[in-house]
Amino acid sequence: MKNTLIAPSILAADFANLQRDIEMINTSEADWFHIDIMDGVFVPNISFGMPVLEAIKKHAKKTIDVHLMIVDPDRYIKTFADLGANILTVHYEACTHLHRTLQAIKKEGMKAGVALNPHTNIHLLEDIINNIDMVCLMSVNPGFGGQSFIENTYHKIEKLKELIIRKNASTLIEIDGGVTDKNAKQLIQYGADVLVAGNFVFKSENPIKTISELKALCS
Ligand code: DX5
Ligand code: ZN
Repeated sequence: MKNTLIAPSILAADFANLQRDIEMINTSEADWFHIDIMDGVFVPNISFGMPVLEAIKKHAKKTIDVHLMIVDPDRYIKTFADLGANILTVHYEACTHLHRTLQAIKKEGMKAGVALNPHTNIHLLEDIINNIDMVCLMSVNPGFGGQSFIENTYHKIEKLKELIIRKNASTLIEIDGGVTDKNAKQLIQYGADVLVAGNFVFKSENPIKTISELKALCS
């Protein structure tokens, strides 16, 4: 079986002990840092911004996967590249000129991701899939951690996988929201390449062990 990647979501970390939680991820079997940026406009919540990402970057020793839940993300592409993002994901619903946005992200040397809200249909990616390095399927409505997983996500993975194969694309599939040990195995079987997990990791008694248990389900 392929090696699915685990990306703990920093949104669920203890911000009073951020360095400790970053070091925990560094020493764990996690693959990426998932960073949720929310603007209070695209989603009904504000998370954190540039100074916090700068602090994370100082200690993080793994890939930085930035998920922008903001309107007009084009304005900040260069800023996130300068802050050290390796993957920059924008929302399909927030981009009028998605092709141009993806080009701009790649021009700054980052991988380009596109996130889809739970209601957004896969077929909308038909003419752009070959330009996307990663599709992030939201398995909750974006804006908050700790919500329950939306079951229709399995069906969306199936449709997306079919599109990727048909178009001979090399796009990764990331699942974001409500991921636990209860759905991880099935998500991988359907074709997920990256699993984001916030509360399930950080609110567990032993996050290092939780990450390694998730990882074990993936191999
Ligand atoms: C939701 C965020 C997710 C969130 C995941 O808007 O994009 O990345 O942090 O958290 P959990 O795993 O707790 O649902
Ligand atoms: Zn996210």
